[in-house]
Amino acid sequence: MERQGLTAIASLLCLLSLFATACDAIESPQYTIVHAESDFEVRLYGNSSWMSALASDLSFEKATLNGYHRLFEYTQGANLNSSRLAMTLPVLTSIIPGAGPLHLSAYVVRFYLPTKFQSTPPTPLPELKLELYNWSSHYVAVRKFLGFALDDIVVKEAEKLALSLSRSAWANVTSNSSYAYSIAQYSLPFQIIGRVNEIWVDVEAAGVNGNKLGGVASS
Ligand SMILES: *[C@@H]1O[C@H](CO)[C@@H](O)[C@H](O)[C@H]1NC(C)=O
Ligand SMILES: *[C@@H]1O[C@H](CO)[C@@H](O)[C@H](O)[C@H]1NC(C)=O
Ligand SMILES: *[C@@H]1O[C@H](CO)[C@@H](O)[C@H](O)[C@H]1NC(C)=O
Ligand SMILES: *[C@@H]1O[C@H](CO)[C@@H](O)[C@H](O)[C@H]1NC(C)=O
Ligand SMILES: *[C@@H]1O[C@H](CO)[C@@H](O)[C@H](O)[C@H]1NC(C)=O
Repeated sequence: MERQGLTAIASLLCLLSLFATACDAIESPQYTIVHAESDFEVRLYGNSSWMSALASDLSFEKATLNGYHRLFEYTQGANLNSSRLAMTLPVLTSIIPGAGPLHLSAYVVRFYLPTKFQSTPPTPLPELKLELYNWSSHYVAVRKFLGFALDDIVVKEAEKLALSLSRSAWANVTSNSSYAYSIAQYSLPFQIIGRVNEIWVDVEAAGVNGNKLGGVASS
């Protein structure tokens, strides 16, 4: 089911994309769905390497553009090997509560490295201020939403996911501290219609094991 969904998204991107050459196979990190409900699902992602851009803009939208721009330069050859890297999806923006100026939030924008470069990513040019991020295997609760991921919309969607989780087997196992979440965007910046996004929140496995939800569900 999920593969078909992603293929449909990829096809749609190809129709609308300015990056027509990237359309043969847009790579995304692989995952397994371990639980699905009407308004969210829980996925298990394996180890993966991403290139990260810290952005201390106040707005999620500005931070995403800022980070995406630097990551795009990197993929177009702004690295020590002058390598070009294929486009991947999603573009992931994580909110880090309290990490910005005046203890406001900061953001990290992440680009999933193509398989070919997972273990040997080219070193970014220093002025791009990018860092390699090795994300070890983890569970994520995911809520999908359509349209543009605007500042006020992502906050509302994140609240909806928090509410869903609070009523679920994951109520007590959401990776704690403050409510830190990410926005995964599967559409290119200039795409107007058919935009697909997700809110991601890290959760612990306990919601799966502790409650014997069992089986791999599909949406
Ligand atoms: C990330 O993993 C790669 C191997 O996959 C390793 O060479 C590199 O040192 C790791 N980097 C960090 C920052 O952990
Ligand atoms: C980058 O260039 C160095 C030196 O030519 C080479 O050893 C290395 O494999 C290259 N790395 C990548 C990721 O292409
Ligand atoms: C994933 O990374 C961890 C270290 O972060 C390592 O211990 C583990 O073996 C890796 N798993 C796979 C399947 O590569
Ligand atoms: C979460 O913890 C509270 C208090 O410990 C408990 O009453 C509740 O049943 C727990 N919820 C779940 C879904 O485990
Ligand atoms: C999670 O939140 C609770 C209550 O806010 C707090 O007592 C606990 O220390 C937090 N745990 C972590 C790992 O941040």
